[in-house]
Amino acid sequence: MLNSLLLASTLILKAISTPIVGGTEVGSNHVYPWMGMQQSNASWVSNDGSFHQSCGGSMIRENVLVTAAHCHVIITNLNQLKVFSHVYDSDKVVEEQAIEFKVVKIIKHEKFDGVGSNPPNAFDISLYILEQVSNPSNRKVETIEVASFDPNTINDQGPIKTIGWGAMTDISVNANQSKTLRETELQLVTLDYCTEIYKQYYTFDKVGPEFLCANDGNVGLRSICYGDSGGPSFTIENNKPILQGISSWVEGYCEAASIKSVPVLYVRASYFKNWIEEKLALEGL
Ligand SMILES: *[C@@H]1O[C@H](CO)[C@@H](O)[C@H](O)[C@H]1NC(C)=O
Ligand SMILES: *[C@@H]1O[C@H](CO)[C@@H](O)[C@H](O)[C@H]1NC(C)=O
Repeated sequence: MLNSLLLASTLILKAISTPIVGGTEVGSNHVYPWMGMQQSNASWVSNDGSFHQSCGGSMIRENVLVTAAHCHVIITNLNQLKVFSHVYDSDKVVEEQAIEFKVVKIIKHEKFDGVGSNPPNAFDISLYILEQVSNPSNRKVETIEVASFDPNTINDQGPIKTIGWGAMTDISVNANQSKTLRETELQLVTLDYCTEIYKQYYTFDKVGPEFLCANDGNVGLRSICYGDSGGPSFTIENNKPILQGISSWVEGYCEAASIKSVPVLYVRASYFKNWIEEKLALEGL
């Protein structure tokens, strides 16, 4: 919920994107082919019934996207959603021969309590079961591995990459999203630090290990923003991308991660790895 990255519903998705404030263009659809782009024609995204980029996501199986639950809670029918992979420019899915999927089922975390919730919801995670609609150059679907949970690393600091088609600046509601996929690097902060900051805004006792918190690390204006919701933060280990976070929440406005050093919140992917595997097992996946 980018500020709720979804921002209060309507805005949330629209608004939440992740490059992303202060980022750079990724350059092509071959760099992060496992990055999923959601498009929707629901009225909070589209004025005229045409499909527009709404959220991000990560392909974790050939037919499974993991994303933020707030990305779909205001979708009333699965036909209001499309997912693409192998895409860089959201206007050029045809030219780029992106793979298009339809969503056949959504598995939302049982404890997610809706959009616009205060404080930020720790269970902002959903799985989309997909079916290919078209794959013009017969590409293999690329996937990203979900990090394994290690309680000893929950307070690790250090760099994390994040990508998305979200707004590049937070001009409140009218922030335009990026046509092209952008990336930036944020710095993880400890849960204690994150708690200290978030206590100023909410009554919660602590920001728990189900979250991953990051800010710009004082290196300059950087953040996820509206439209980045559901997209990934990740590390690269042995040349392989590892999914660490799912873009979920920006407190107040996107630049706050820099100007006021208010961390953005990701759902910690590793914390939900068992949940993901259980749900997929039930689907025979
Ligand atoms: C969205 O697109 C679907 C087809 O995927 C169509 O059935 C539906 O009527 C459209 N919704 C709106 C609001 O135009
Ligand atoms: C957003 O895009 C529209 C249409 O291209 C443009 O008129 C408007 O000025 C842009 N807004 C910002 C804040 O850049």
